[in-house]
Amino acid sequence: MRKLLTGFAQIITCNTNGINSKRGNYLSEISALENHSIIIEDGIIKDIIPDSSIKNISAEQNLSFKGKTILPGLIDCHTHTAFAGSRAKEFKEKIAGVHYEEIAKRGGGILTTVNAVRKSSFNDLIEMIKPRVQEFIAQGVTTLEIKSGYGLDFENEIKLLHAINFLNEIYPIDIIPTFLGAHTFPSEYKENHKGYVELIVDKMIPHIAKNNLAEFCDGFCEATAFNSEEIDLIFSSAVKSGLKLKLHTEQFNNVGGLDVAIKHNAVSVDHLEVIAEKDLSRFKDSETAAVLLPGVSLFLDYDFAPARKLIENNAIVALATDYNPGSSHILNLHLIMSLASIKMKMKMEEVINAVTINAAKALNRETTSGSIEPGKNADFAVFDVEDYSEIIYNAGRNLVTHTIKSGEIIFQKQSAA
Ligand code: NIG
Ligand code: FE
Repeated sequence: MRKLLTGFAQIITCNTNGINSKRGNYLSEISALENHSIIIEDGIIKDIIPDSSIKNISAEQNLSFKGKTILPGLIDCHTHTAFAGSRAKEFKEKIAGVHYEEIAKRGGGILTTVNAVRKSSFNDLIEMIKPRVQEFIAQGVTTLEIKSGYGLDFENEIKLLHAINFLNEIYPIDIIPTFLGAHTFPSEYKENHKGYVELIVDKMIPHIAKNNLAEFCDGFCEATAFNSEEIDLIFSSAVKSGLKLKLHTEQFNNVGGLDVAIKHNAVSVDHLEVIAEKDLSRFKDSETAAVLLPGVSLFLDYDFAPARKLIENNAIVALATDYNPGSSHILNLHLIMSLASIKMKMKMEEVINAVTINAAKALNRETTSGSIEPGKNADFAVFDVEDYSEIIYNAGRNLVTHTIKSGEIIFQKQSAA
């Protein structure tokens, strides 16, 4: 089935000329085309053509998007969308000055959410998560990573991963499951860290890999969570089992996470708020994406990651919401985009590449998603703006009129019929 998409004020292709990621000066190139149309064939982008040659094209369906701007489908490459319960009470304390790590130390934080997840059935979880996924779709998100990490025992980590996989079945977008058993130590292993690492390595990872329940293995390398030796053991086992790697690291402290992640060729390292000056150059020739999460810095009111320095050092910088109940209760990728510009001084063009092609890179999807280039999936976010700068200027406002996945309209704003 051939479709022709016409009428755009701008087509932001994020074209990569086959490189499939952007770094350095190239990160600020988005290729904004005017007077062009898109041809889709069987859910794949076939061509982007000047409007002057439309008359030669025959298509089964013609869709007009007059005056709108189309981007590659947005990609949220780091979320903890699969959670239960609320931590509004703890947030109240945080507002009053209690530190996130302090709350974690006394058994709150992630463990509060773990209690809520353990009490929830599979069906409860699905019903809680569904509206969140729908909200992402309404923002133009066509690829969404979701981590486990709030079960922290065999039964509940597997329950979460099943829920994430089920959501991938019922929604048209790509939902990518990540195993985050190494999020923190559950209370039953508070005094036996070795025992919990063994549980992950000997039982959880083999089962997850055998049943194809996750694509990535993630961990939290922090003073209050897992040390670098523990992450090393977990990553060695994950790689042996065929899982790809991601790591939460350099968020509050620098405890060797970056070394381990780079040693194991992680697909991404995420957070980096406190990355040491001397480590910036490690991204120069690295294919490991640096995923920055400015929502956490806003929500916890602390340092933003040094985006400009990372870009100067040629890192493949991506952006994500880190949507979770504790450190970034922000289900809004558009707000994250504006924050990145305002607080981390990323240029608007850099931001757009960071939530499209580089976010695809951070999920190992860069050859099929993340840019409007022939041969890639016809995944798009259509905005009711005539210039892409409006998207970031309208901080936190959802101007998406259509979300298109594999050539099908999967979300349409009521007034945009
Ligand atoms: O990415 N850093 C640890 N994990 C999450 C927070 C999860 C939570 O507080 O529930 C994060 O910030
Ligand atoms: Fe996170």
